Amino acid sequence: MIGSPATPTADWIEQQTQFVESLSTPWGVGFMAWALETDLSPLEAFLEFGPSLVTLSFGDVTRAAAVAHEAGVLTAMQVGNAADLERAMADDIDIIIARGAEGGGHGRNEAGTLPLLQLATAQHQKPVVAAGGIGTARGIAAVLSAGAEAAWIGTRFLSAAESSGHGNMKSAARNAGLDDTIYTRAFDLAQQLPWAPEFGGRALRNEFSDKHADLSSWEPNDALREQMDQARSEALTDIAPVYAGEAVQFVGAEQPAAEIMQELCGFRQVLGQAARRFA
Ligand SMILES: Cc1cc2nc3c(=O)[nH]c(=O)nc-3n(C[C@H](O)[C@H](O)[C@H](O)COP(=O)(O)O)c2cc1C
Repeated sequence: MIGSPATPTADWIEQQTQFVESLSTPWGVGFMAWALETDLSPLEAFLEFGPSLVTLSFGDVTRAAAVAHEAGVLTAMQVGNAADLERAMADDIDIIIARGAEGGGHGRNEAGTLPLLQLATAQHQKPVVAAGGIGTARGIAAVLSAGAEAAWIGTRFLSAAESSGHGNMKSAARNAGLDDTIYTRAFDLAQQLPWAPEFGGRALRNEFSDKHADLSSWEPNDALREQMDQARSEALTDIAPVYAGEAVQFVGAEQPAAEIMQELCGFRQVLGQAARRFA
């Protein structure tokens, strides 16, 4: 999956698509739906290169989903509550991603992964992928048992050798535990990003998020924006966001993604043991 920024340049799109095409494996691209509400051109540009999957999340997806379907491309949407699920069904989204509040990065801070997943699988029409807080073989076994077709995992790969994240971000993630994440809009407000208020982000708690825990009287502040931009460019983890979910507790030393996958594939043994135990 390629994660598209709100306004990707033509050069960036070409660079990304050239890379995935060199892999000769199916690939997809994820968009922040709010960015496509006013301008569908990033989606149209990517469709020229023939992705297998387009993910549309966090906003009104109706027009974007229609354009992707017109091009014969499968769509997926991260849903975070019952209303999102209804909208995804109404827009004929092909794959429902039940993404609970435990997840890293942007999303809703509403339903937890398991209740949301059970609601989504009960519709018995579209395949459901589970996301949010899954970081182990046992976690994957749990969501597959609850009817998911697959697990969608972000945080567990933060320390992957292939991840382009700065070493400071990787070591902050490696040293964090279950209680070290926070759901906040502080980082988006500081950067003056146009995320809707219902889509904050889960990140590691740091000096900045502690200082700005109360956002009730927030005013845009250009000096703060500059400070945040600089902190991000220098990967200063006391100020800049390190997006991570509750599965950050399972992030270990840097290792190739294939090794992480091998560990996660232990879900087969977990399911086998459970079947024998509860038969
Ligand atoms: C560092 C980071 C960056 C992310 N970037 C995106 C993104 O660009 N687009 C998107 O739709 N979701 C993004 N997500 C959210 C993931 O798609 C997914 O919902 C989440 O990682 C699942 O929960 P988990 O982090 O507990 O595995 C990101 C998550 C993380 C941790």
